[in-house]
Amino acid sequence: MTRTVLVTGANSGVGLETSLHLARLGFHVVGTVRSEDKAAALESAATDAGVVVHTSVLDVTDVTACERVVARHEPWGIVNNAGYMNVGRVADVGPDEALHQLHVMVVAPMRLATLALPSMRLRGEGRIVNVSSVGAHATAPMTGWYQAAKHALAAVTDALRQEVAAAGIDVVLIEPGGLRTGISAKARDDLLRRRRDSADTAAYDRSLKVLRMVQPLLQEPKAAAEAIGEALTAGRPRAHYRVGADAAVIKMLNLVLPSQVKDRLGRAAIEA
Ligand SMILES: NC(=O)c1ccc[n+]([C@@H]2O[C@H](COP(=O)([O-])OP(=O)(O)OC[C@H]3O[C@@H](n4cnc5c(N)ncnc54)[C@H](OP(=O)(O)O)[C@@H]3O)[C@@H](O)[C@H]2O)c1
Repeated sequence: MTRTVLVTGANSGVGLETSLHLARLGFHVVGTVRSEDKAAALESAATDAGVVVHTSVLDVTDVTACERVVARHEPWGIVNNAGYMNVGRVADVGPDEALHQLHVMVVAPMRLATLALPSMRLRGEGRIVNVSSVGAHATAPMTGWYQAAKHALAAVTDALRQEVAAAGIDVVLIEPGGLRTGISAKARDDLLRRRRDSADTAAYDRSLKVLRMVQPLLQEPKAAAEAIGEALTAGRPRAHYRVGADAAVIKMLNLVLPSQVKDRLGRAAIEA
């Protein structure tokens, strides 16, 4: 029987590549997007790629919509991919914005997973793949809340994996380094918007420069899509899949460098 996999944030970047890749691998893919227009664009991208991707409109913070989508599709697998960066100094990001980020990137993935668990338990199998980031292993200035969300997602994913393993359900964390997706343009918009009201415009100017400098180093999102495909097709998936050499280097440096050195590197990214 064809296995259904739900992919959140499927209209762009990692979510789009993953939806197409999983459809090529033979999964029945349901890509969730936030509007009918985005659903039409995703279906048309799938047609152009020679595959079929089904769509559902879902903002992952909408509890009723999450319940409806999971009840309708009873997915064998879920790829919790939807996310955004919310770039800015901690002092410039308000509590409502911080809570929304934690909702989208920590609470909602776990809500979708929890809703799908009963049917996975009945089947005696299932996969939950959470898209984290190398940001779960390091903390840099200007992305504090994003990294807080990724740290939290990593912790709760590791807990869930141990809790459902006996039911035959695998829970996997994907940890990409920098990828060329729509997230960079949104990060730039955040920096320009928050710069206007910030007491530290220099930090924003430096961050905009760093964002420009890293663009040529980014990998294509296909690399993350392939890791997600592996996590969904492997007989015994690994707990964590790192994507990209930068992810491996950052994780290793974070382990070996003393905090003073890490702080100096972070400060160099925002101080003139
Ligand atoms: N790009 C990187 O360098 C990188 C590195 C490591 C990890 N990641 C992770 O990869 C995942 C995908 O990001 P991306 O790089 O592919 O960025 P992207 O191109 O901006 O895609 C993000 C997707 O998330 C969706 N989304 C955002 N908020 C949502 C909400 N409340 N409900 C439902 N969908 C929502 C967006 O929908 P809209 O189009 O409607 O906004 C979009 O489809 C994220 O979890 C990100 O943290 C990215």
